Amino acid sequence: MKIGIEQIGFAIPNMYLSMDDLAAARGVDPNKFKIGIGQDEQAVPPLSQDPVTLGVNAALEWFKPEMRDQIGLLIFGTESSIDESKATAMYAKRLLGIHDWCRCFEAKEACYGATAGLMTAYDFIKNHPDQKAIIFGADIARYGLDTPGEVTQGAGGIAMLVSADPKIMEIEPTSTPFCDDVMDFWRPQYFDTAIVNGHYSTEQYLRFFKNAWNRHKETTGLKIEDYVAFCYHLPFMKQGLKALRLILPEASEAQQTLLQKHFDESAAYSRRVGNIYTASIYLSLISLLDHANDLKAGDRIGMFSYGSGAASEFFTGKLLPNYQDYLRPEAHKEIFEQRRRLTVPEYEEQFKQTLPHDASDFDIDVTNDPAPVVLTGLKDKQRIYDRRK
Ligand code: CAA
Repeated sequence: MKIGIEQIGFAIPNMYLSMDDLAAARGVDPNKFKIGIGQDEQAVPPLSQDPVTLGVNAALEWFKPEMRDQIGLLIFGTESSIDESKATAMYAKRLLGIHDWCRCFEAKEACYGATAGLMTAYDFIKNHPDQKAIIFGADIARYGLDTPGEVTQGAGGIAMLVSADPKIMEIEPTSTPFCDDVMDFWRPQYFDTAIVNGHYSTEQYLRFFKNAWNRHKETTGLKIEDYVAFCYHLPFMKQGLKALRLILPEASEAQQTLLQKHFDESAAYSRRVGNIYTASIYLSLISLLDHANDLKAGDRIGMFSYGSGAASEFFTGKLLPNYQDYLRPEAHKEIFEQRRRLTVPEYEEQFKQTLPHDASDFDIDVTNDPAPVVLTGLKDKQRIYDRRK
């Protein structure tokens, strides 16, 4: 039985900030941001987009009402959850109209939550091949104005349909997790921006990748020549590139060129969106599939997921025949083209706007947000969502 990704989509806010503008405002050489870090733009969320809306909007790229009764598992991976108790998964279930016999919960481990969801879905489908799972990953990455992490902020969500009838990528059975208790990035309950030991976090990412990669080679016997591409969790492009460079010497010169080309294609969307935590590695996969025109059925893709704190997993997938028929590159191009570029003062104003913390009711102006699902406000301490289309 093949288990894997049947459908996948993403959603991003309709506003962005150019890293040229941010560099000018912060008095930094733009090449530090564009080459040194590897970011060109960053998505800026309006108050009407939160992890729930970003995840559900991603699912609406492919979701059809007739799928509702097939879903037996719904997992929502997020670092930027909206409640200390109730799972984002419950809101997603209602907004998509999934039936009540579905198991729904949230998964948290920084940027690893969606991968925890995917691996759980794999095991679930193995035991329930007649059912399907929806895995969400959605986050708003906030480090703070004029901080070293600011250039790596972002916002967005992905949603995957996982089943025993995969159309895009089959997930291979052996995956390699590597976890260790490290304080590289965390967010206490009273903070809405991350605390990060920046350089330490970049070192930990590479340590985890090296460990997972080496062990995966030992346990599976696979070598670098068995891969056509690698997709990474991309907190920023350069982090993934550094991981790739660790293993490139294992490849022939021709393969190094190929892997580098595919890496650039996998990072194309991330360069324009920024870090979207749990969703990031899956945005890399969508970006690779949308941009690379030399991939074919049977090609193996290596996937490295990393969530600070820290949990990582190296796993692999193989492309399926006619996978291109299930992609939407033209629609994705339009999503980017329709975004509005903010000035730095507009971005700063937007960043400072947060939902009230004092339990008061609050209305959000949604007129400039074209997304199908929006957060319209807070009433009686509850988030009010509207599915407009
Ligand atoms: N032209 C070209 N390159 C330049 C340059 C210029 N003018 N000026 C500087 N650079 C280069 C530097 O040489 C450096 O390159 P290398 O890394 O290849 O050496 C790069 O730009 C960055 O420069 P600095 O290290 O000086 O940057 P910094 O101190 O301002 O901080 C950072 C960088 C630590 C990544 C910071 O942005 C940060 O804290 N980010 C958030 C944390 C993060 O994303 N960590 C990633 C791992 S953790 C994870 O993956 C989970 C998660 O999602 C958070």
